[in-house]
Amino acid sequence: MTESVKYAGSKLKLLPQILELIQSTGGSRIFDGFAGSTRVGQALARSGFKVVSNDVADWSFVLGSAFLLNKRSPSQFRDLICHLNKLPPEDGWFTQVYGGDVTKSHQGNAVQQDGFKRPWQRKNTRKLDAIRREISELKLDQLTRNVALTSLMLALDQVDNSLGHFSSYLRNWSPRSYKDLELKVPSLWINEKHNQVLQKDVFDAIQCLEAKVDVAYLDPPYGSNNEKMPPSRVRYAAYYHLWTTICRNDQPDTFGKVSRRKDSSDKACGSVFEEYRKNEAGEFIAVTALDRLIERVPCEWILLSYSSGGRATSEALHEVIGRHGKLVHALEARYKKNVMASMKWTHEWLRSAEEPHREFLFLIRK
Ligand SMILES: C[S@@+](CC[C@H](N)C(=O)[O-])C[C@H]1O[C@@H](n2cnc3c(N)ncnc32)[C@H](O)[C@@H]1O
Repeated sequence: MTESVKYAGSKLKLLPQILELIQSTGGSRIFDGFAGSTRVGQALARSGFKVVSNDVADWSFVLGSAFLLNKRSPSQFRDLICHLNKLPPEDGWFTQVYGGDVTKSHQGNAVQQDGFKRPWQRKNTRKLDAIRREISELKLDQLTRNVALTSLMLALDQVDNSLGHFSSYLRNWSPRSYKDLELKVPSLWINEKHNQVLQKDVFDAIQCLEAKVDVAYLDPPYGSNNEKMPPSRVRYAAYYHLWTTICRNDQPDTFGKVSRRKDSSDKACGSVFEEYRKNEAGEFIAVTALDRLIERVPCEWILLSYSSGGRATSEALHEVIGRHGKLVHALEARYKKNVMASMKWTHEWLRSAEEPHREFLFLIRK
């Protein structure tokens, strides 16, 4: 059982196959280099692996710390969550920027009052304002703070008015946005292993591993091959700018229709793995970064996730894999049939990978 917010590229549906492939290596210490929602790390830690979770994003650090570093009984957080739920709602920065009201359109639909789309109804941003202020003012220890923020993000995710990211909000209020925000104690467990949670660029993270790892699970962003989509719209920092702001509580300057943080704009942020251009040699910059990463990651096994909707071509990826190791196993997710197909021949995946939105797992031995 894992818990997180809605997340583009989350490997929730692939968890059984990821676990099985990692188990097949015989390794016990796993580096999750692009942890995102942290679902993979949670599933691994719950299955007894020692996990090093890393992602550049604040929200991933908060979620990862709450789930993977906790060594207390979950019931110890009950009083705090109860206290946060009872706070009187208040008007603050989140309400001013992100809270919307419900009115009826001429057609009788429940629409947003001033024509602007908003991610939450005002009644819930008023609760968010009170709870977020209290989390800062209570001066909690780091773990407790991360558990409270995790609980807040999980609750906000249940009452949002989006399609799973904050790059656009729905015009007509979603049914779930009418529900009242209610925090719950996250589904924590007592970690017996000494897991590690990092918030770094993956190349820096591999320098900071406290101990040796056996397997690196690499699930970088592959972006979109939709030429018309501006790159900033498909970057994680832009998609989830609101989780960053909730974690930091820094009331940033915002811009545009969805009031995005200024530091999530094209010019201000970007990861080499989210770079969709080619270099002078005509290679995709993101693929050359992956090449370097596979070369440098200090372990024998790599489990690589690949989504064919992105810019990296299967041929380019195949070359990268061949340069640094041996492809031991390739699996393709067939969501409709709810099975993973094992592929015997390289050409089988090269061919099928060109169709859009197929997900693959490659187990590589260096
Ligand atoms: C495809 S998602 C990972 C999804 C994750 N496996 C899950 O199941 O939720 C890619 C992640 O890479 C992170 N990321 C992008 N560039 C990075 C970098 N240079 N170093 C570390 N993480 C990075 C993004 O923040 C995003 O969470």
